[in-house]
Amino acid sequence: MHAALIRRTGLALLLAAFGAALNTPALAQAQKAPSASAPSTYEPQSGQEGKDVVWVPTPQVLVDKMLDMARVTPGDFVMDLGSGDGRTVITAARRGARALGIEYNPDLVELSRRNAEKEGVAGKATFVKADLFETDFSRASVITMFLLPDINLKLRPKILMLKPGTRIVSNSFDMGDWLPDEKSTISSDAGCNASWCTALLWIVPARAAGTHQFPQGELTLKQEFQMLSGTLRTEGRTLALEGKVRGEDISFTAGGRKYTGRMNGKSLELR
Ligand SMILES: C[S@@+](CC[C@H](N)C(=O)[O-])C[C@H]1O[C@@H](n2cnc3c(N)ncnc32)[C@H](O)[C@@H]1O
Repeated sequence: MHAALIRRTGLALLLAAFGAALNTPALAQAQKAPSASAPSTYEPQSGQEGKDVVWVPTPQVLVDKMLDMARVTPGDFVMDLGSGDGRTVITAARRGARALGIEYNPDLVELSRRNAEKEGVAGKATFVKADLFETDFSRASVITMFLLPDINLKLRPKILMLKPGTRIVSNSFDMGDWLPDEKSTISSDAGCNASWCTALLWIVPARAAGTHQFPQGELTLKQEFQMLSGTLRTEGRTLALEGKVRGEDISFTAGGRKYTGRMNGKSLELR
């Protein structure tokens, strides 16, 4: 998908820049030293280097789509990892959510704060100059990101430890063999004329693996990310099952019958 995307969009140079920014010590050294304050005329350039990823803005129409897919409400606390010019954080705040941008480049942090002021959401949209790898994002109910596949993979173990039900939305890049719960691409007809028009959503699954006893029988679940397999022993029969975990909600089919339930801590309550 990655290679096809490059061919389709002709953004090979940009992606090379994404890759180069990751591993080249010379580039890391060349990175600008943090400035005390960015001039108010500061204009970032798409493709400019960043600590681990270059800055390329998510098209606004995809920002909107990402927040729609995560079903952001005023009750959410949204964190954008590598927040660039602040657009995702500001858009989330305009929806009433509290939102925090983590951004390594201090000039982008200052620009984001000015943008939030201009949009009248500085009370809800805040920004810190920090390294996303050293940031605790366990308070977030929604995490947004436009990073790189290998950075997503590095973050994956930490993400999987988050509270079940936490929504993760990524612009374009996946999480390896943790397949997304939803994926949506915005066409040019629908207003995404630039590249980077695909949003992927994951919902952190509760840990359901193990053996669960019920008055009607015994359920043994194996879990790979959000996918469930295993057996249901009931009425003297052992039935193979397949199912899914979506946050704390469990659903599976066994013997042609559909079951639903919910994880309550370590125990599964079947409905
Ligand atoms: C591709 S841009 C995405 C910007 C924004 N999230 C958006 O979607 O428009 C990636 C951003 O991550 C920032 N970044 C790179 N490495 C970082 C790190 N280790 N910690 C925090 N921010 C980082 C870059 O400066 C850049 O602004």
